[in-house]
Amino acid sequence: MRSARRWLGVLACLTGLFLASQGTAQDEPAEVPVEDYVWNLKPPAPLAEERLAQNPVWREVSCAQCHEEIAREWSLSLHALAWLDEIFLDELSSVRRKKNCYGCHAPLPMLGKDWKLRPEVRPMWRDHGVDCRACHLGPDGAIHGPFGAPSNGHASVRDEIFSPAGSNELCISCHRVSIGPVIGIARDFEDQALASRGLSCVGCHMAPVERSMAIDDITGEPLPPRKGRSHLLQTPRDPHFLAQAFRLAVERTSGGALFSIHNRAGHRIPGIENRRLVFEVELLDERGKVLVEGQLLVTRREFLPFDSHRSLALEAPSKTKATHLRLHATHDAPAYKRPVLFLEAVLEID
Ligand code: HEC
Ligand code: HEC
Ligand code: HEC
Ligand code: HEC
Ligand code: HEC
Repeated sequence: MRSARRWLGVLACLTGLFLASQGTAQDEPAEVPVEDYVWNLKPPAPLAEERLAQNPVWREVSCAQCHEEIAREWSLSLHALAWLDEIFLDELSSVRRKKNCYGCHAPLPMLGKDWKLRPEVRPMWRDHGVDCRACHLGPDGAIHGPFGAPSNGHASVRDEIFSPAGSNELCISCHRVSIGPVIGIARDFEDQALASRGLSCVGCHMAPVERSMAIDDITGEPLPPRKGRSHLLQTPRDPHFLAQAFRLAVERTSGGALFSIHNRAGHRIPGIENRRLVFEVELLDERGKVLVEGQLLVTRREFLPFDSHRSLALEAPSKTKATHLRLHATHDAPAYKRPVLFLEAVLEID
C-alpha cells in the first residue's frame, strides 16, 4: 500500500493524476505519505516583496548591526510587520478590548514561558512586531540558537528549540489560537501528530540556506557560512508556494471527468477569514473547444481540511469527448487589490 501510494504520488506530480475517491479523507484515519512533502522553496514573489519592503523600521532592530542579512530576510516577513500591518490595524480599530490583540503582534520574549499561555505584549518597540528577541532571547539573558557559537555581541546558548522539530512548540504557541479573523491552524498539525511523522512548521515555512549568519564586529567581515534557515517566511502570498499546497487529479468518468484538489499543507486551508481560492476548470475537446465549465471554492466556511480532497464532476454534452481539462486558479486575500493567479495548467484526461 505504502509503495503504491508513493508511486502514485510521483505520478501525480508528473501527470496530474491522482487516485480519486469520493468524500474527504477525514472519515478515514489520515495517512500522510511523507515523501510527498517535497517543497520547492523559492523566495516570495515580487508582489509580496513590494508590499513588505515598505517596512521602514527594520534597520533599527539592534541585532541588524551584526546580523544584517538575517534581519533583511526577516524584514520581508509578516512577522516583522505584525504590528504595522494595515490589515491588522484596520481590524483592531473595530475591536473594543484592543489589549487582547497585542500579545502575539508585539510579544515579549517567548523562551522560558509556559507555551500554553498567550504571549504578553512588550512595553516598547512594538513597531518591530514579532522581533528577534521574541524568539531568541532566553530568560538567562543569553541568545539561544542552533549552534551555541560564541560571539562578542552576546552570550550564546545551544538550544534544542532551534532544531526543526524543537521549534514546533514555539510556532504553535501563537498559531494555535483562533481570535479575530485568525483560525488557529496549528491545532490541526497537533491533532494529527504531524511532528511524529517528521514534519515541522520550519520545514515547510523557512527555506534551508547556507550563508554567513553574522559579521565579525571587529573586522566588519562576514563570518564563514553556516547551514541555517531563511527568516523570510514561505507564505501563501507567494503564488509558487501556494500552488504546492495542492495535488491535482483528473479522472475520466462515463459522462466527462472528475477533477480533484488534495490538500498537501500541514493543516487546513485557509487560516484566515476573507481569503478565497477559486479553481476555475474547463473541459476541452481535442480541438480545444470548451465543452463545459465549473468551479471549486476554498474559503473559511468551505475550508479544505488537512489531507483531504474536494472533487468536481463535469458532464460533457452527449456525443462529445473531453480530452483535456484547463485549470485557472486565483487567490484573493484582504491585502490584495485584485485576485492573484497562482496556478494555471492543462491536464490530459487519460
Ligand atoms: C494568540 C496570538 C494572537 C492574538 C492574541 C491575536 N492575533 Fe492576530 N494574528 C495571529 C497570527 C498567528 C496571525 C497570522 C495568521 C495567518 O496568517 O494564518 C495573525 C494575523 C492577523 C490578521 C491578518 C493580517 C493580514 O495581513 O491578513 C489580522 C487582521 C489580525 N491578526 C487581527 C487580530 C485582532 C483584531 C486581534 C484581537 C482580537 C488579534 N489579531 C489577536 C496571532 C494572534
Ligand atoms: C556585536 C555583534 C552582534 C550583535 C549586536 C548581535 N549578534 Fe548575534 N551573533 C553575533 C556573532 C558574531 C554570532 C556568531 C556567528 C558565527 O559564529 O557564525 C552570533 C550568533 C547569533 C545566533 C546564533 C546562536 C547560536 O546558536 O550559535 C543568534 C540566534 C543570534 N546571534 C541572535 C542575535 C539577536 C537576536 C541579537 C539582537 C538581540 C543579536 N544576535 C545581536 C554577533 C552579534
Ligand atoms: C509571538 C507569536 C508568533 C510566533 C512565536 C510565531 N508566529 Fe508566525 N505569525 C505571527 C503573527 C502575529 C503573524 C501575522 C502578522 C500579520 O499578518 O500582521 C504571523 C505570520 C506567519 C506567517 C505568514 C502568513 C502569511 O499569510 O504570510 C507564517 C508562514 C508564520 N507566521 C509561520 C511561523 C513559524 C514557522 C513560526 C515558528 C518558527 C512562527 N510563525 C512563530 C505570530 C507568531
Ligand atoms: C518566529 C521566531 C523567530 C524570529 C522572529 C527570529 N528567528 Fe532566528 N531563528 C528561528 C528559528 C526557528 C531558527 C532555527 C531554524 C532551524 O535551523 O531549524 C532560527 C535561527 C537563527 C539563527 C541561526 C542561523 C540560521 O539562519 O538558522 C540566527 C543567527 C538567527 N535566527 C537570528 C535571528 C535574528 C537576527 C532575528 C531578527 C532579525 C531572528 N533570528 C528572528 C526563529 C526566529
Ligand atoms: C507540509 C508542509 C507544511 C507544514 C508542515 C506546515 N505548513 Fe503552514 N502552510 C503550508 C502551505 C502549502 C500553506 C499555503 C496554503 C494556504 O494558503 O493555507 C501554508 C499556510 C500557512 C499559513 C498561512 C495561512 C493563512 O491562511 O493565512 C500559516 C500562518 C502557516 N501555514 C503556519 C504554519 C505553522 C505554524 C505550522 C506548524 C504548526 C505549519 N504552517 C506547518 C505548508 C505547511
